[in-house]
Amino acid sequence: MALEPTRDDKFSFGLWTIGYNGADPFGGPTRAPLDVVEAVHKLNELGAYGLTFHDDDLFAFGSTDAERQTQIDRLKQALADTGVIVPMVTTNLFSAPVFKDGGFTSNDRGVRRFALRKVLRNIDLAAELGAKTFVMWGGREGAEYDSAKDIRQALERYREAVNMLGDYVTDKGYDIRFAIEPKPNEPRGDILLPTLGHALAFINTLERPELVGVNPEVGHEQMAGLNFAAGIAQALYQGKLYHIDLNGQRGIKYDQDLVFGHGDLQNAFALVDLLENGGPNGGPAYDGPRHFDYKPSRTEDITGVWDSAAANMRTYLLLKERAAAFRADPEVQEQLAASRVLELSQNTLGDGESYDDLLADRSAYEEFDTDAYFNGKGFGFVRLQQLALEHLLGARG
Ligand code: GCO
Ligand code: MN
Ligand code: MN
Repeated sequence: MALEPTRDDKFSFGLWTIGYNGADPFGGPTRAPLDVVEAVHKLNELGAYGLTFHDDDLFAFGSTDAERQTQIDRLKQALADTGVIVPMVTTNLFSAPVFKDGGFTSNDRGVRRFALRKVLRNIDLAAELGAKTFVMWGGREGAEYDSAKDIRQALERYREAVNMLGDYVTDKGYDIRFAIEPKPNEPRGDILLPTLGHALAFINTLERPELVGVNPEVGHEQMAGLNFAAGIAQALYQGKLYHIDLNGQRGIKYDQDLVFGHGDLQNAFALVDLLENGGPNGGPAYDGPRHFDYKPSRTEDITGVWDSAAANMRTYLLLKERAAAFRADPEVQEQLAASRVLELSQNTLGDGESYDDLLADRSAYEEFDTDAYFNGKGFGFVRLQQLALEHLLGARG
């Protein structure tokens, strides 16, 4: 299998990822700013197909209309020169001081109205560039103090905002869907819609739920101690995986945004296996962009930036190759059967069986000998996981 990324792999990067200058709360930038034209050309050379961005990544907050247009034109030219596309656009509602208490859910109504206007303007740009997904990461939508935020009213304002945006794209005829990106904390002490599950539940309360899905990020779920691949399986199950942010995280701590695979590698393997081989007929379960939202560590120079960008894609393709070998291994097939993994797809009730039939089935209960049932026999899950690990390590096939 080819480990050279191609356009068909649908790898995309945020302009803020490769453009991250290394600044953190304890130190200033370690790298010079990266120009968008250089970013597009370099991503194209490396085999990525897409660039994504926040409005403020492309033109600084507070730019004049002319400055904004110059940057848009420069981006468009670079896209035309390379064939790179913009699959997703998002809005920065977190960096400018005005958003210190949030955008859609700031306690200040004037800020909320300004935030909506900023997003509407950027949705027009997204449509103009042909982006199909509009991500909403509410990094500042939250609080540090329980007494300072009425959470139920904040959710009501969030809902009002997303409902209005849904009306807007519908009325304009834009082919755009929204993807909410959960995160438990950072920069706020607690962020609204902190996990994938919270976001999925919130989406059900919206007026146009079909327009809204999720954009889960590996590290964000792991910051909450959750199993990312399992969360993605639920998002897929509910038809809500509209976009995905791939990166690496090592445990429950600050948001590391490491290269994909440089965190919980076994879960990354399970994730790629799910995305690539988890479809109902063994095909891909997800066909959207494989979007990397990582930060090249501040220790790196510009060579390290591009090496790390390439590393994300290479790791994904390596895991895809290893996952294919795992699925093709006859011993794995045998163990999947022995572990009854496939039996889970059988209905628990028989065809047309009712609860009355179940109640009448003495073998299901009265005669079901729970003590003797397994007769000391285990499921063999550990062997199955070891087979996965050995494929992951390249020790088999
Ligand atoms: C983070 C977030 C952000 C968002 C991005 C999109 O690392 O905290 O992932 O990077 O994805 O800003 O709005
Ligand atoms: Mn992150
Ligand atoms: Mn992200």
